[in-house]
Amino acid sequence: MRIFAISDTHFSLDPTRNMEGFGPIWKNHQEKILSNAKKVIAPGDILLIGGDISWEHKLDQALVHLRQLNDLPGFNKLFVKGNHDHWCKNLTKLKNSLPQGLQALMGNAVKLRGQVFAGTRGWLAPNDPCADDLDQKTFEKEMALLRQALDQAIELKPAEGIHLLLHFPPFTTQGETTPFWDLLQSYPVATCTYGHFHMAAEWEAIPTGKVDGIACQLTAADYLNMTPYCIWDAPGTPK
Ligand SMILES: [Fe+2]
Ligand SMILES: [Fe+2]
Repeated sequence: MRIFAISDTHFSLDPTRNMEGFGPIWKNHQEKILSNAKKVIAPGDILLIGGDISWEHKLDQALVHLRQLNDLPGFNKLFVKGNHDHWCKNLTKLKNSLPQGLQALMGNAVKLRGQVFAGTRGWLAPNDPCADDLDQKTFEKEMALLRQALDQAIELKPAEGIHLLLHFPPFTTQGETTPFWDLLQSYPVATCTYGHFHMAAEWEAIPTGKVDGIACQLTAADYLNMTPYCIWDAPGTPK
């Protein structure tokens, strides 16, 4: 069993709302993501989807995209919302609408196939140059949700460490660690995947690979050339 991750799929039902203004990498990106994912993910794997999933504003419309991702190979899919997922508001309605095999992580943790997953959206931290005073309240709320998610993960006895899914990286746009990083470091986190960064300067600044023993990966679809990334592999388990 392997764990794959991708984020910032930015799917849209409106063909005029394409992403090509952000660079040639985004040409036909929906088709590319779905096609590449089918090539790399096996039926026994798990896919983590790190937010900014759909531009749609209504849940019914975003469900088209959630189903497209859920229909990909993979035993289970987990997602967190991103700052652009405006369809993701009513948690009860969302839970009742999700297709089988797809679950949201919003300050909670789940155990799947012996692995423990925790997740929340995250936010800009006060030490990020892009943050302003208006971000403080959401920052504090997301810090509490991260602590809640990681505490739940501990109760699930993560023998091989916690797989943490975020939308906002626990690093600033200049690559410095944030209070989210300080918090997650006090738990046995094995992998940490996150998205949100689309700028070349952010890609250059962000730490990659193992950081203080935690396997870290930026999973923004454009950064990954529209192909889900394998963050964890359990040799000897069925794929
Ligand atoms: Fe994004
Ligand atoms: Fe984002």
